[in-house]
Amino acid sequence: MKYEIKCSKCSRTSSSVLAFKCSCGSPLETHVHFNFEKKKVRKQDYGVWRYVNFFPYVKEKEIISLGEGWTPPVKFSDNVYFKLENSNPTGSFKDRGSTVLISTLHKLVKKAGGYISEDSSGNAGASIAAYAARAGLKAKIYVPEKVSGPKFNQIQFYGAEVVKVSGGRSRVAEEAQKAEKGKFYVGHILHPLFRDGMRSLAYEIAEQLGWHVPERIYLPVSAGTLLSGVINGFKHLVESDVIEAMPKIVACQTQQVSPLYHRFKNLSYTPPERINSIADALVSVNPPLLNLMVKHLREANGDAVMVEEDEIFNTFKELARKGFFVEPSSAVAYAAYKKQLKNKEASKGCKTVVVLTGIGLKTMLKPS
Ligand SMILES: Cc1ncc(COP(=O)(O)O)c(C=O)c1O
Ligand SMILES: [Zn+2]
Repeated sequence: MKYEIKCSKCSRTSSSVLAFKCSCGSPLETHVHFNFEKKKVRKQDYGVWRYVNFFPYVKEKEIISLGEGWTPPVKFSDNVYFKLENSNPTGSFKDRGSTVLISTLHKLVKKAGGYISEDSSGNAGASIAAYAARAGLKAKIYVPEKVSGPKFNQIQFYGAEVVKVSGGRSRVAEEAQKAEKGKFYVGHILHPLFRDGMRSLAYEIAEQLGWHVPERIYLPVSAGTLLSGVINGFKHLVESDVIEAMPKIVACQTQQVSPLYHRFKNLSYTPPERINSIADALVSVNPPLLNLMVKHLREANGDAVMVEEDEIFNTFKELARKGFFVEPSSAVAYAAYKKQLKNKEASKGCKTVVVLTGIGLKTMLKPS
């Protein structure tokens, strides 16, 4: 057995790649049962599919790709590298999940004469819509009413049907999951294969740095797909003796949306009545993967940081003025790094990777 899709709570295995949660209601996780071997990396491919041999449930002939992955690690200062996930085809890291997910199931959904549905605050919706378009698959994307204009436009340009849902983020998910004839729900937050695609980011960071992993990696966290997938990727490399130890993974959240930070630090968290953070992609106040994220982050001996609105805004502007035009949500990771430097929880001497998750052209902010 090369892989299993298993419940994170009751350990029941799922036999279908279409399943997005266990019959007990808990999230599913993908487990691979083989070692990562450097010689199995496809050196001639510069993208996610360089690692095709480590995604055993994907049939090579069915891969749907837009050229995602193998994003540049840019040296920003002596020991700090920015991993430019904003240079992915739809402008965010989500394309790693979409290429893996859509490649695995587009044939199955088409054969059943169906279409896919997804709920997203923007970036994942745009990404799933793009890969569905490439696969010739119909997609229905459910978005919060106040979705950012550029993301909303992007989803529509890809030809997906967009449904705006009022109320909180969980209302959007409920609508997307509502049973309808021909509908296959592939919501990126729950679907284990979307999250599993994020393993490729860990492999890339390790390989691009000569298989010497950095000491610290900063990621912005909302629903936790990036965090959980990246931790699983590094764990796989450690278990396969490809790298010696896990890097310190630092989960970065905004003051308004920080359920993981609070749980991780054993603090209580009450979300604000209204979220109006400029980090508009980080909105999961009650993420379904929270227990899983805490478990992963603790096992990985990671850390969590929370940043304030002014820190995010100043960092967003600072990055742009140094030529890195990223979403405010992405600036959260660099703001968290700077905060840890200031508090002496991190040091300039540590080799550090900050993942810049999404492109600045998607922001609704106006320059003053
Ligand atoms: C630009 C950007 N960064 C970070 C995140 C956080 O990722 P996750 O929801 O997997 O925690 C998102 C999620 O929407 C995003 O769009
Ligand atoms: Zn279960």
